[in-house]
Amino acid sequence: MTETTAHASGTFAIGGDLTVHRLGFGAMRITGPGIWGDPEDPREARRVLARLPELGVDLVDTADSYGPFVSEDLLREVLHPYAGMLIATKGGLTRHGPDVWQPVGRPEYLRQCVLMSLRRLGVERIDLWQLHRIDPAVPRDEQFGVIKEMRDEGLIRHVGLSQVSVEEIEAARAFVPVATVQNLYHLARRDSEEALDYCEAHGIGFIPWFPLAAGALARPGSLLDEVAGRLGASHGQVALAWLLRRSPVMLPIPGTGKVAHLEENVAAAALELPDEDFAALDAAGAAAWAEELAQRS
Ligand SMILES: NC(=O)c1ccc[n+]([C@@H]2O[C@H](COP(=O)([O-])OP(=O)(O)OC[C@H]3O[C@@H](n4cnc5c(N)ncnc54)[C@H](OP(=O)(O)O)[C@@H]3O)[C@@H](O)[C@H]2O)c1
Repeated sequence: MTETTAHASGTFAIGGDLTVHRLGFGAMRITGPGIWGDPEDPREARRVLARLPELGVDLVDTADSYGPFVSEDLLREVLHPYAGMLIATKGGLTRHGPDVWQPVGRPEYLRQCVLMSLRRLGVERIDLWQLHRIDPAVPRDEQFGVIKEMRDEGLIRHVGLSQVSVEEIEAARAFVPVATVQNLYHLARRDSEEALDYCEAHGIGFIPWFPLAAGALARPGSLLDEVAGRLGASHGQVALAWLLRRSPVMLPIPGTGKVAHLEENVAAAALELPDEDFAALDAAGAAAWAEELAQRS
């Protein structure tokens, strides 16, 4: 049997010129618990990375803060010089311990993030550098301004943002072209619909993080459960297939430290959701999110 590769997910040109397969890989889970330190099984983590090119995965998302540094270091060790792959990294979050993330957006720090990622990754220019968070304690124009400088200097090829609203994307676009937006988004987490539609209208790649989640829809006996059973797929595969179908600018980056999980996730690229299942899942996910919002308020 022929193995499914990420090719089945189709392509998207990041920044209009770096074409990747839409189903990518998130390299956050090749670190220790709390995204801190080394992975519990370093050999398996290395095997996961080595498997990526074989599976046609050519969009890899990382950040200097994953580990910190562990994810970027492993990527370099296993995949450098990244033939045909786009390694997207991020900066702007500091780490004080497991599960602790503190934004620092001072221009001199953002510049250090880029310079150190260049060294760790062993590249002369970062194809896609994403501001991990806009630091609310620093004027955002100062953050966008230094990113523009670094792009003009050739340290960064394309610029991405993370966890942003349409208003923030537009504010950044006054300084630089925005190639991608990376927001929390999945079947049952829908508060970035407006940002997604904006990205689609402007040819900006939308990278949904936590793409395998399905919130309340993941329960046994749910619609997701029924569709997955009928299609002979896992919940996660259906969640990924729904994302890929939701928009042509959608670039999911499921993450794992296990080869078997990577292979399962990539196989979702070939899973075709019938029209009625796509529509029913869409509505059920939106309803689950509305219910969660109502419970929160
Ligand atoms: N911009 C941001 O602020 C931000 C925040 C979070 C994440 N991210 C990025 O988004 C990527 C994805 O997000 P995420 O890692 O939070 O969510 P995810 O990819 O939806 O889920 C990852 C979790 O699911 C498990 N998993 C993966 N494949 C599986 C499978 N086939 N079967 C069962 N379990 C499976 C993983 O554990 P195993 O290792 O055991 O497989 C891990 O615990 C990250 O790698 C990172 O690059 C960005």
